[in-house]
Amino acid sequence: MRKLATLATLAAFTAAFAAPAGGPALERRVEETLSRLTFEQKVGQLWQGLGRKVVEPASGDMSGEKLKESFVMDVRAGRYGSLIGKRGVENYNIIQRAAMEGVGIPLLIGNDMIHSVVTTYPIPLALACSWDESLWERVAEAMALETILEGCNWTFAPMLDIALDARWGRIAEGGGCDPLVTGLMGAAMVRGFQGADMSDGLHIAACAKHYVCYGASLGGRDYNAVELSDDTLRNTYLPPFRMAVDAGVATIMPAFHSYNGVPCSMDGYLLRDILRGEMGFDGMTISDWGAVSQLIQHGTVVDGADAAAKALNAGMDMEMVSECYIKNLASLVNEGRVSMKTVDDAVRNVLRVKFRLGLFDHPEIDAAKVGAAVDPAANRALAREAAQKSIVLLKNEADALPLKSGAKVALLGDVSTNDWQMLGCWSTCNLSNFENAALLDGLKADGVDVAYTEAYTLTGRVDAAEIEKAAGQADIVVAAFGSYWETTGEGNSSSKIELPGNQLEVARAVKACGKPLVAVVFGGRPMAFPELAELADAVVMAWNPGGCGGWGIADVLTGAVEPRGRLTVDIPRTTGVCPLFYSQTTTGRPVVVNKNNPFGQRFTSCYNDVEPSALYPFGFGLTYTTFEIKNEKCGIVNDAGGAQLVAVADVTNTGKRDGSELVQLYVRDKVAKIARPRRELKSFARVELKSGETKRVELRVPVASLGYWTKGSYIVEPGGFTAWIASDSDSGRPVDFNLDPEIPAK
Ligand code: BGC
Repeated sequence: MRKLATLATLAAFTAAFAAPAGGPALERRVEETLSRLTFEQKVGQLWQGLGRKVVEPASGDMSGEKLKESFVMDVRAGRYGSLIGKRGVENYNIIQRAAMEGVGIPLLIGNDMIHSVVTTYPIPLALACSWDESLWERVAEAMALETILEGCNWTFAPMLDIALDARWGRIAEGGGCDPLVTGLMGAAMVRGFQGADMSDGLHIAACAKHYVCYGASLGGRDYNAVELSDDTLRNTYLPPFRMAVDAGVATIMPAFHSYNGVPCSMDGYLLRDILRGEMGFDGMTISDWGAVSQLIQHGTVVDGADAAAKALNAGMDMEMVSECYIKNLASLVNEGRVSMKTVDDAVRNVLRVKFRLGLFDHPEIDAAKVGAAVDPAANRALAREAAQKSIVLLKNEADALPLKSGAKVALLGDVSTNDWQMLGCWSTCNLSNFENAALLDGLKADGVDVAYTEAYTLTGRVDAAEIEKAAGQADIVVAAFGSYWETTGEGNSSSKIELPGNQLEVARAVKACGKPLVAVVFGGRPMAFPELAELADAVVMAWNPGGCGGWGIADVLTGAVEPRGRLTVDIPRTTGVCPLFYSQTTTGRPVVVNKNNPFGQRFTSCYNDVEPSALYPFGFGLTYTTFEIKNEKCGIVNDAGGAQLVAVADVTNTGKRDGSELVQLYVRDKVAKIARPRRELKSFARVELKSGETKRVELRVPVASLGYWTKGSYIVEPGGFTAWIASDSDSGRPVDFNLDPEIPAK
């Protein structure tokens, strides 16, 4: 029997949370510090500036150093509460020394260490596909150490935006479309970045972003407005943030966009009522880059002063880069538009994070201590493991994979030899500092008999003759498809998610030669490739697998490790169906597909020119063996663990190889006050099974997590539910169960 270890985190889906303990001693230190600050110094605490390096090589002379005196004087005077950017340990320590000698308050120094510092791990969307809490935590913990050695004590991660629309370029940066997976990943990364004790000098502050519902921007266009109901906000978009707050996240970054007309940067309902009032967050909020001054462009403030007043009054503690606070707070307080208490409270929030990070007690980085904890070889192994576990095998016919030992492989496509293209949208590494591998390197290292020919680029030429020649000399063709990572991430929304260039010609040319084709798809978003999926014998979703990606992919292709990844987004058949997500609300005219209406019967909720289903659904991923899930049973128990849904099934490895199945529990509330998702993921567990072996799997979730938010309240309704214990969000047999009105929901 296996119990899921996430009961506690699932409780995050319920209702209110206790505020993370600040401790009276810490609060006393906050008050003492606050009481000795001048008004100007208080305002300084609320600003994150770009600053500059203090020492840097004088031009042409790598040994020379130039002191940026005016910057150091500003730090000493307390004009900065924080800086953005990495400057290395030496600069960090000079800056912190100046701050301690002057105003006596160390700085938060933050940067975007999202999936890459020195070591580059798979992009978050790929990492999510591992469904592996331990991996998420270990990656964040390893990044924390490398981040400190870059001269930072804070990262702007994890990103917890639920992304339903593959057109949105930032889908690459988060955990996908599901609140539970995103929330578990976010909480695990918070634990990894911050450790059990954030002040131990080996961890950093995390920042959950972008608060909130940024991924729902209209048309999938970055920074665009969001219109959605309060119910959907609470049921879909807030849960990952609740889970991050519950995990003790130190800081939160409100998003750029407007939610139902109000920019998040000045939305007191989101920042004060929900975040602090309901969730009990007592850390610090930091605006996104220039977002306070951008309130002017939103058309919701008159000028910079108005922007500062509205943002600070709404609960935005620190302003990133723009200067509305530092330029206007003095007059705003004099005019009574911002109260002194509001300023003080914001400063308290900033100081609390600095104390929690232990910065007052050890403002400088102990590079020797941190350096001793960093093991580059272990990081490379972790990055390789992360790549292996993030890869999702979408199709595998005629046993195309794993590659047969001794098979002659023709490797095609420009990305196959391009280690830079392994990296992903928040790569901060310098390839020369880091031993990395493209796919060709990985295949060679794994002993594959491989011959590389470029033959085509993702967006440009296709040389059919080269393809024919290479395929003719090989037993099997492995080819890199997809898109370059520079087309995803921030500011990279796309109106087409089909494969760019002439990639389908490549697949057609290989098939014309009669050779099996393994398509390895790279990219930072789900792409629509139904024809490639048809033509290829095997399809491997490699995402942007990170610097060690070439090794990780090769390990999966050769069968050195089993493919384990499962999608955390749905893969659409065409751009026009976006947004597409498995947990869509039920309709009064559900789609009916039959043999005369493959796209769905008219007058049901379908398109008349494309199948309504995902090409590959959320939760889907193949392995090199097969599984059967049977004897599913569900029921409610009320024991020492409280009222819980218990779902049990027998899982058998019916194939010839050992492997692991990711057993997923989905639930639907049959009759509710509001239309509910057709299925919602409630729990999952990985089961390792030898060939022929059967294990009984048990998944438990608190009854409290079967409810939902409506009209500002969280309710659990007794009555009928349907559950699926399944391999993905589209498969499995429905099992009904009933929630008795007598069962306590808490
Ligand atoms: C992004 C944030 C990022 C910030 C600082 C912004 O443009 O939206 O995700 O943390 O820049 O680099």
